[in-house]
Amino acid sequence: MGDRVAGKVALVTGGAMGLGKADCEALAREGATVIVTDREVELAHKVADEIGGDAMALDVTDEVQWAEVMRAVAERHGGLDILVNNAGNVIFESIEECSLDHFRLHLDIHVVGTFLGCKYAVPLMKNRHEKIGGGGSSIINMASTAALLGYGNIPAYAASKAAIAGMTRSLAMDFQDKGYGIRVNALAPGGIETPMVMGISGRAGTAPMDIPAGPLAADALGHPQDVAGCVLFLASDDARFLNGLTIPVDNGLYARPHH
Ligand SMILES: NC(=O)c1ccc[n+]([C@@H]2O[C@H](COP(=O)([O-])OP(=O)(O)OC[C@H]3O[C@@H](n4cnc5c(N)ncnc54)[C@H](O)[C@@H]3O)[C@@H](O)[C@H]2O)c1
Repeated sequence: MGDRVAGKVALVTGGAMGLGKADCEALAREGATVIVTDREVELAHKVADEIGGDAMALDVTDEVQWAEVMRAVAERHGGLDILVNNAGNVIFESIEECSLDHFRLHLDIHVVGTFLGCKYAVPLMKNRHEKIGGGGSSIINMASTAALLGYGNIPAYAASKAAIAGMTRSLAMDFQDKGYGIRVNALAPGGIETPMVMGISGRAGTAPMDIPAGPLAADALGHPQDVAGCVLFLASDDARFLNGLTIPVDNGLYARPHH
């Protein structure tokens, strides 16, 4: 147990598995009260039981559910300091294969979900430093290297992740100008071993890969904890001078020249 986010209240979307679950574990380990949300509510409760947190059903595309969740957060926890907009999906399809329904599905989960999360969280997150002290609140949005690099088979996913990077910058400037004390950043992970990636690689339901503890080879997948460590940093007051960024968490992928 540490105290890097001690006394703070955190809400994670898509917290039932994968990166979201690792985020919940890391935030709880460092002292936050964590609200695990997911549309898979039973799994969310299981994670909450494991970490000693709270759990709520939340489909991020549903505005009514966001309003209800934030009402319950205010009632049960008195405010919110950390929001991780993590819930996501991906369907690998070129533009010739991708239906408008599938395109809208990606926009709904990633762009609308992140928009609603930020919109409904602002009243609970602004001016928290005046109430609980510390460096202020932090929103962490989940983008992807697909927001930064060109992958031909995921136009819907890439468009939605690039939109998250743009929204992140806009909100960061708005909240800073208004003096709300809310920083907004995004992470852009490369390939991380989660149920999503296991499904894509045809290993759904099999045991996760054993990601080595030491330095990683250039083509290695990351472990969910590699992203959760960055979420924890951005959530903590150690990151109070970081705002409006979309940060690759990709073992050097974005830095490497491609040809
Ligand atoms: N795993 C990677 O390699 C990788 C890389 C870059 C970005 N990301 C992003 O990280 C985030 C998490 O990915 P993951 O790999 O852990 O995925 P995952 O599929 O393993 O887990 C996603 C979670 O989100 C939940 N979810 C999906 N749609 C939802 C909705 N509408 N409302 C609420 N919950 C919903 C699922 O139930 C699940 O618990 C996503 O935004 C993804 O795009 C992942």
